[in-house]
Amino acid sequence: MTLLSLDRVSRSFPAPGSPVDAVTDFSLTISPGDMTGLLGPSGSGKSTVLSLAGLLLRPSSGSITVNGTPAPTAERGRAALRGSTLAHIGQDFSVIGWMSAVDNAALPLEYSRPAVPRRRRRERALEALAQVGIDPDLARRPARTLSGGQRQRVAIARAMITRPAVILADEPTAALDTGTASAVMDLLENLRADGVGLLIATHDPRVAQRCTTTVSIVDGRRVDPS
Ligand SMILES: Nc1ncnc2c1ncn2[C@@H]1O[C@H](COP(=O)(O)OP(=O)(O)O)[C@@H](O)[C@H]1O
Ligand SMILES: [Mg+2]
Repeated sequence: MTLLSLDRVSRSFPAPGSPVDAVTDFSLTISPGDMTGLLGPSGSGKSTVLSLAGLLLRPSSGSITVNGTPAPTAERGRAALRGSTLAHIGQDFSVIGWMSAVDNAALPLEYSRPAVPRRRRRERALEALAQVGIDPDLARRPARTLSGGQRQRVAIARAMITRPAVILADEPTAALDTGTASAVMDLLENLRADGVGLLIATHDPRVAQRCTTTVSIVDGRRVDPS
């Protein structure tokens, strides 16, 4: 079973002069229990691949299939598939500072259909936060008062809360010390063991070493060791 497939996907961005080809003819599949490291230097196209895979960005050409469904072209259909199946953890975590950790973690449930009642959203958020080691006292604090490692855990709890089939994590350990990075990788590894498929962009060897497979990208193209 394939949870996510990118088939010869390309994406360019308009730029003064000529367009930037951020990703070219890139193919990849993710199955349950995969933890695939996407390795490449800065500017090689890792974040663009994750945004394409997360249906946050449309490819210029090529096709993307999520859980057997070709990515719809209309935004409404894309949002529905995104909400039911995918979670994207951005490079900056995008945890909202003035909101409590529990409200941050519960956020994706506000858009769930069928609707989840507010009380149940809080309960589920507290459960997810407990699983990543954020206790209820910390969970009530505004997220801006948490450490970098704690905010990264909140971002993971928020990603887990809709029970996605696929998690896309963009440099999840970039801002973390070795001990905290290792703890974050333990959390991602637990999700993998539960059958989630993970795609992790990184240039951190500590992360690459813990992935089940790695794929390298250079100048937007997949390069396989020969
Ligand atoms: N929204 C955008 N507009 C213009 N160029 C972009 C945009 N996003 C990415 N790029 C360019 O695409 C290339 C790949 O970027 P990115 O995917 O962020 O690489 P990485 O995550 O590996 O550092 C870079 O040259 C970058 O400048
Ligand atoms: Mg990036």
